[in-house]
Amino acid sequence: MADNQWASAVTSIAPNEIRVRGYRLDELMGRVSFGEAVYLVLRGEFPGAAGGRVMEGILVASIDHGVTPPSTLSVRNAATTGAPLNACIAAGALAVNRHHGGAVEDCMRLLARGRSRVEGGESVEAAAKALVAEEKAAGRRLPGFGHRVHSDDPRSHRLLALAKEAGVAGAHVAIAEAVVAALAASGKPLPLNVDGAIAAVLADLGFVPELANGFFILARTAGWMAHVAEELTREKPMRRIDQQACAYDGPAPRGLPTR
Ligand SMILES: CC(C)(COP(=O)(O)OP(=O)(O)OC[C@H]1O[C@@H](n2cnc3c(N)ncnc32)[C@H](O)[C@@H]1OP(=O)(O)O)[C@@H](O)C(=O)NCCC(=O)NCCS
Repeated sequence: MADNQWASAVTSIAPNEIRVRGYRLDELMGRVSFGEAVYLVLRGEFPGAAGGRVMEGILVASIDHGVTPPSTLSVRNAATTGAPLNACIAAGALAVNRHHGGAVEDCMRLLARGRSRVEGGESVEAAAKALVAEEKAAGRRLPGFGHRVHSDDPRSHRLLALAKEAGVAGAHVAIAEAVVAALAASGKPLPLNVDGAIAAVLADLGFVPELANGFFILARTAGWMAHVAEELTREKPMRRIDQQACAYDGPAPRGLPTR
């Protein structure tokens, strides 16, 4: 091998043939879901049909959350300056951090600590109680728990249910649920937020924490694009953006279309 040669196992490219992890990309198109393709490119194999539904659930859960999230306000503030789309999306991605959207990685690490305790012989309940006590003693907030708007995050319930239906929910989901119970018992009830639910499910799927925050950015990019489009078509440049002054005027609540 020449000194400057290096290897990549992600995608092979030859004239008129693109293969992701060995599969022809044009054959995957229209046959696999985006969630399955995301799993494939990251892990090298397919997640199976049920695992694919869980991946889809993770991506759909993070698609948008209105104008209140700091990252969406960053995107809209960038858009109002006349920044191009890529700069607006970059502004949003840079605002995904420990307190917003980026609690997934920290929560995965927290749940891994809980799993080690369980592997060491503690019950799930005792491990969860210990995590709550340790974080409190250290003066830290539990990543993946609490929400500014939701006292019972509907996305978390659905995602954990999907993981259970798919048979992929394991120790991390159990510990996350036990932490919710331990917090309630301690007199400080906090919901498992969507970052926490994604963290638990990603950990049970075997993902590494280093990649965790990418899933939120990946999914929320679609929502950010919608906010850039709206800013450009409905608002004037250089406006002062007050999230409290925004009223929703989109479609009234409606049921899913039949397929
Ligand atoms: C998301 C978050 C900022 C929302 O906070 P909020 O509802 O506006 O709550 P406040 O910051 O006003 O805090 C209210 C109280 O709850 C406590 N609290 C809130 N979230 C907490 C957490 N995750 N762990 C421990 N205590 C928490 C605060 O310490 C505060 O306690 P106090 O009244 O004794 O001072 C907060 O829950 C948090 O930091 N969570 C962890 C980070 C996270 O998961 N972010 C992703 C959100 S999707």
